Amino acid sequence: MSSVLEEVSQVYNKAALSLNHIKKQNLLPDGKKIDSLQLPIGKVTEIVERTRQSVLNAEKNNIIKPRSINSATNRREGFTLEQVHALQAHFNTQPWRETNDDPIIIAVQNFKGGVGKSTQACSLAHYLATKGYRTLLVDQDSQGSTTATFGYLPDNDFEQDQTLFPFFYGSFNNEKPCQCINHAIRKTHWDSLDLIPANLLFYESEYVLASYLKDNSIEPLTLLHEGLQGVAKNYDVIILDAPPALGFISLNVLAAANAFIIPTPPALYDYMSTFQFLTMLFKLFKSGIIDNNRPFHFLKILPTRVESNDVETTLLEIMRQAYGEHLMKNVIPNSRYIKEASNLMTTIYEMASIPTPSSDNGKKSRPISSMTGYKNARKAMDAVNSEIESLILATRTSRIKKLIQEVSYE
Ligand SMILES: Nc1ncnc2c1ncn2[C@@H]1O[C@H](COP(=O)(O)OP(=O)(O)O)[C@@H](O)[C@H]1O
Ligand SMILES: [Mg+2]
Repeated sequence: MSSVLEEVSQVYNKAALSLNHIKKQNLLPDGKKIDSLQLPIGKVTEIVERTRQSVLNAEKNNIIKPRSINSATNRREGFTLEQVHALQAHFNTQPWRETNDDPIIIAVQNFKGGVGKSTQACSLAHYLATKGYRTLLVDQDSQGSTTATFGYLPDNDFEQDQTLFPFFYGSFNNEKPCQCINHAIRKTHWDSLDLIPANLLFYESEYVLASYLKDNSIEPLTLLHEGLQGVAKNYDVIILDAPPALGFISLNVLAAANAFIIPTPPALYDYMSTFQFLTMLFKLFKSGIIDNNRPFHFLKILPTRVESNDVETTLLEIMRQAYGEHLMKNVIPNSRYIKEASNLMTTIYEMASIPTPSSDNGKKSRPISSMTGYKNARKAMDAVNSEIESLILATRTSRIKKLIQEVSYE
């Protein structure tokens, strides 16, 4: 009979070997993702809020680097995100908040795994950053699937010190607790989008935070809130991808957010666990364990992985009646393309432009087997993200004041 240690170490070694093999086959990202989006001019005019002619004139006048020419078709390629954002800067149409507007800190949270939290957090981040919002995506799940979306193997590519662990531990700069989370913020290949990565080693933050319970000088639930306040001035939106469990990291996410998106598939089991999550939320805020007097903007239940079968349609209808305006109007369908995108460690927004595996030297875009199915999934994702964008814009007091002024001058 072999020992459990022997058995586990054998399987562990096999897993490590297979990971290397998968990496060699180019099935995993290599940490070198580049801005590969090619936005068509129709989409660009929408984002920069100018006519096609104005965009083309700006390109002709070298406001942006001219697009490259596709040698096969002899036509201009699409616009990169950097070009789109340069155009926004030129036309002064960046959707940046005024300094007196709150940066929105959205927790995508539910205590259940597999409900689409990371998928939603990454898609929303890609959507908002494309539109030019200065966005920070904070991975707080030690499984690191959000981190992997940016081309990393979280456990290979990051040391513990590159996550928020040193911040929670308080040893960074030898302060306790440390006020600064700057060390963990990194630029991504997606212009206007920064990332704080997580990996398995980040999980030790749980124990560190628990140990602060004995130390009366440190409040273990509001550290993330304090850290984010230090960098929030640089962003319009901060998105927190929460872990799927109730623990100190989750509680920090709850206490740091000023808006919640709660993904919930309309399936009985998920529905029940969302109810447990809301019960917990209610108790935590009611008891004042998490400060209930802070500015708060919105809480929405987001139906995810929605199938069109009878049981789910009935449950969705029950959800609509029960939650009313707290349920998002748009829903995320269960889609093989959304699933495939996360299998490829990307989102539906990037999926069409990432190269196929090694066979073609990474030059050709991935063929999408059913353009209609892909477009439908993307349209649904756009509708949800645009609804969230409207919620964000509605929180801007400066914008509301401006609208009131405009109306009263008419
Ligand atoms: N709308 C969807 N349609 C199909 N599969 C989905 C959808 N959303 C998520 N998934 C899949 O479900 C799994 C879990 O999603 P994920 O976003 O990681 O959930 P969580 O972060 O809540 O654990 C992933 O494999 C993902 O591809
Ligand atoms: Mg997740």
